[in-house]
Amino acid sequence: RQRPSPPHLLTLADLTPAQIFFLLTSSLTFKSLAKSFSPGSVRSSLSARTIAMIFSKRSTRTRVASETATKLLGGHPMFLGSQDIQLGVNETLEDTAKVVGSMVDGIMARVGEHSEIEALAKHSPVPVINALSKLYHPTQILADLMTLHETYNPVPEPPELWRGEAQSALYKHLKQSVDPLASLRGKKMAWVGDINNIINEIMVTVPRLGMTLAIAAPKGYDTVDPAVWARVTEAGTEGSIILTNDPAEALKDADVVVTDTWISMGQEQEKADRLKAFEGYQITNQMVESAGAKPDWKFMHCLPRKPEEVDDEVFYGPRSLVFPEAENRKWTTVACFDAYFGRWSIPGGERKE
Ligand code: CP
Ligand code: NVA
Repeated sequence: RQRPSPPHLLTLADLTPAQIFFLLTSSLTFKSLAKSFSPGSVRSSLSARTIAMIFSKRSTRTRVASETATKLLGGHPMFLGSQDIQLGVNETLEDTAKVVGSMVDGIMARVGEHSEIEALAKHSPVPVINALSKLYHPTQILADLMTLHETYNPVPEPPELWRGEAQSALYKHLKQSVDPLASLRGKKMAWVGDINNIINEIMVTVPRLGMTLAIAAPKGYDTVDPAVWARVTEAGTEGSIILTNDPAEALKDADVVVTDTWISMGQEQEKADRLKAFEGYQITNQMVESAGAKPDWKFMHCLPRKPEEVDDEVFYGPRSLVFPEAENRKWTTVACFDAYFGRWSIPGGERKE
């Protein structure tokens, strides 16, 4: 019997809001189930399956989230670092995707160019999830959305459930009682920093969920990749995005302030130029408050963090969501692995409405 073609997660731009809603509700279900009941009450949708983690760059959060997610779902995580396999040195992406994909049940891959993850997906017989490329980082932004949802709507206590039926009952309960996207609508997110994979993923996602987005980047670093902007215009959301060189303009009325490193992996040789270009972009309470952000503004950062882009007072302060955001990398990865590697289906339609 021929299997259907596998679903791949290369960017959230490929998902409808309904599919994002599904993944977030599923993430909330797994978190509540594993923490309020017991990890053992999670259904083993990856039982007897092996998930390959092909990482050509360093990772703390994505790797730990992926390995623990696979184990929680009853599968075996197989980490393949750049020193371990032939990829890119002795063997093409096409041949690697065919060979690894013939023996495993899913591939989580962290790559350089986005074309590399596209090539893996094109040739893999099993689902491929993007664990970060130069262009996008979908699983990070799912965790950010989950964290914002929890911040604005603490999840209600789960109902009394019998352990054997807990997962589906809890999912139904959350689906009926919680709209993980409702609290995001109408909120303003401000990004002050480099235009990189994180803000690209935000750009193709949050305006479609009814948020407005303002991006401040310095001159010379203020161009949006044409491939990313094409996804924005295709969605018709360019009117919800402000691009500026002035952090204060971006921060005015912001509910959520977000940044990331100014020197992404692979840009280490540009460090001196970048530190100079981004002078004046460090996020501080004084900067955000004098610009007129909302009184209850929150701070997010995907991590790893360097002190130049945000000072300790904000990063470790009461407005910072960075550690819950990091933990939620796990729960959103469990939901993605369950859907993509376990079920091969993400309810809510193939393309955005
Ligand atoms: N945020 C994130 O992707 O972190 P890692 O690079 O440590 O995986
Ligand atoms: N923009 C950063 C994100 C790390 C999670 C990078 O690509 O290095």
